[in-house]
Amino acid sequence: SAAEKGGWDSFMDKEIHEDPAAVQRTLLGRLDKHGDINLDEVRIEPHDFKAIDKIIVIACGTAAYAGMVAKYAIEHWVRIPVEVELAHEFRYRDPILTPRTLVVAISQSGETMDTLMALRHAREQGSKVLAICNTQGASIPRESDAVLYTHAGPEVAVASTKAFVAQITAAYVLGLYLAQVKGAMFRDEIQSTLDALKAMPRKIQWILDTQTAAIQKAAEQMVNAKSFLFLGRHVGYPVAMEGALKLKEIAYTFTEGFAAGELKHGPIALVDEGEPIVFIVPPARGRNVLHAKVISGIEEVKARGAFIIAVAEEGDPDVERYADVVFWRPKAPTLMSPLVDVVPLQLFAMDMAKLKGYDVDKPRNLAKSVTVE
Ligand code: G6P
Repeated sequence: SAAEKGGWDSFMDKEIHEDPAAVQRTLLGRLDKHGDINLDEVRIEPHDFKAIDKIIVIACGTAAYAGMVAKYAIEHWVRIPVEVELAHEFRYRDPILTPRTLVVAISQSGETMDTLMALRHAREQGSKVLAICNTQGASIPRESDAVLYTHAGPEVAVASTKAFVAQITAAYVLGLYLAQVKGAMFRDEIQSTLDALKAMPRKIQWILDTQTAAIQKAAEQMVNAKSFLFLGRHVGYPVAMEGALKLKEIAYTFTEGFAAGELKHGPIALVDEGEPIVFIVPPARGRNVLHAKVISGIEEVKARGAFIIAVAEEGDPDVERYADVVFWRPKAPTLMSPLVDVVPLQLFAMDMAKLKGYDVDKPRNLAKSVTVE
């Protein structure tokens, strides 16, 4: 009903606008009065956490892309290897699991059968499983050793939006907690990273407040495009994959997400006059070498006639030179940037689907939660 949608004309619209709250609520209550991370709710003892020497994230769809983002952050902060594996692949390849492996099962619904079967397999092999889940009491948290709930609130639209930013937030809290118990970071480093995380809801809100008209206009311009490439590097790579997934899920447009560095190893063959390419541009500050590399990728495809849509940090001068359309996002540290970069892509997919007359909340052939293997 209209009331359930809180004044928005679709659940997806409502839920994208809840991205800031989803991040904020997922952070709430996880810091004690000294500002230390306190995961009392998690039923794994600190000394067991301390012993962990590897993380394997298992998930499907959007949740797996949240896991890929977390890999960059957790490896950087905690200095232990983090693998991310699609749950349906994981179980059938004889993965290496020990009692010191922490398996993190990420699932919005907590009912995805592939993820549930993978976590059962991990526990049978003696590993501990921690669920990151948005649904209280669902099968995945029930069968895990511990759970860290995302507090995004119920997500109704089939294509996941606010759950994604909440999953990244929860995985980051877990990563910083591990850094704390393992002594992998100085206390003030953990504090400043948490401060950066706490600032993200406000930055997401800025996008919702200032960029929607430009995004709508771009969707109108691109509505008849047959295919899109999405390219990003580092944490922008999983964001590109997620942006591509959103657009194919609800606008039924053929999309591919790639690591921008792969451009010359294949995707550039697809680039033709007018081919739309979405670039996730890393921050330009501090002579970021990744920024220069992504910009040179943009130049290369621009020279071949591509239509460039860039998601870029406010004030990036290079982007303005080459991009046909820019979705601006506020300045944020690299590891925090997925929380802002994904938002325009969620809005863009929704606008495209609406312009094509599709039901954005219930795309054809897809289910909110896939409870069969
Ligand atoms: C389905 C949904 C996706 C979701 C995936 C994983 O494919 O359509 O939006 O990302 O399942 O769902 P989960 O509930 O485990 O996060």
